[in-house]
Amino acid sequence: EELKVFAPATVANLSCGFDVLGCCLDSVGDEMLVRRNDLDQIRITRITGQDLPLEADKNVAGVAVNALLQKLGSNQGFDIEIIKKIKPGSGIGSSAASSAGAVFAVNKLLGEPFDKLDLISFAMQGELLASGNAHADNVAPAILGGFSLVRSYCPLEVLSLPVPSELRMVVLHPLIEIKTKDSRSIIRQNVSLQKAISQWGNLGALVSALYTEDYGLLGRSLKDEIVEPVRSILIPYFQELRELVSEKGALGFGISGSGPSVYALCKGDANAELVKEEIQRFYSDKNIAFELHLSSINEKGVKVL
Ligand code: HSE
Repeated sequence: EELKVFAPATVANLSCGFDVLGCCLDSVGDEMLVRRNDLDQIRITRITGQDLPLEADKNVAGVAVNALLQKLGSNQGFDIEIIKKIKPGSGIGSSAASSAGAVFAVNKLLGEPFDKLDLISFAMQGELLASGNAHADNVAPAILGGFSLVRSYCPLEVLSLPVPSELRMVVLHPLIEIKTKDSRSIIRQNVSLQKAISQWGNLGALVSALYTEDYGLLGRSLKDEIVEPVRSILIPYFQELRELVSEKGALGFGISGSGPSVYALCKGDANAELVKEEIQRFYSDKNIAFELHLSSINEKGVKVL
């Protein structure tokens, strides 16, 4: 039996929610084919689209599945094929998609012994391999769909938040690679009380805005005075892009995950199209290759194809 799954891209942090907030996209994602083998081992049989390690213990999908099988005490082997459409180091949850897709598929093939929170914890082992830190703000929305909030890491507690129906995400990916490991290493480990106050005010307001579908409040909450000032230096024309999309009516703008992708959250298709076109026009002159995606929020997360 073979299972084919769609493993979606995700936008983590959403400015005010560093390491605790993320949302799932529906227009970008990988495909994965997973089947049992008779070899007692996990094999990454093929990766199309990117040059990534095939050794199971060096590949995030292999490591995540291994965590699942260890917890189950099973020697069952699996073959995993990855059709990679999300570029590694893009900031839209490339490693998370592989980890989440793999554990979701293996769990299904085994008759679903684990719930989604368990799957998140296994997929986090893939993130640990990729970035040196087991954050859940990409893998949780990849598995649950919609917006996810990590209330606590230890014990792991993740909440799903409502998705206002008119939200659209425009994601610009300047084709430079920033490794999450590197962009985490430049963040300062201490935060002033004043900045912490702004951040938790914004994060609380953002959660309220999702529940009340208050798009204005949502836009005002998408701010980050802690991580963005440091990381944005690595992203070409960050401030100019912010001014541009704000002028064109986007609700909010910030770094997607650890960058270099940036996101503009918009209300409605027409505004998202306009913002996308303006970014396209602006960036086309800059001699930097890029990709642009316009996506709705994916409420389902990883799914069987
Ligand atoms: N919260 C993580 C970070 C997400 O910003 O480092 C990485 O995609």
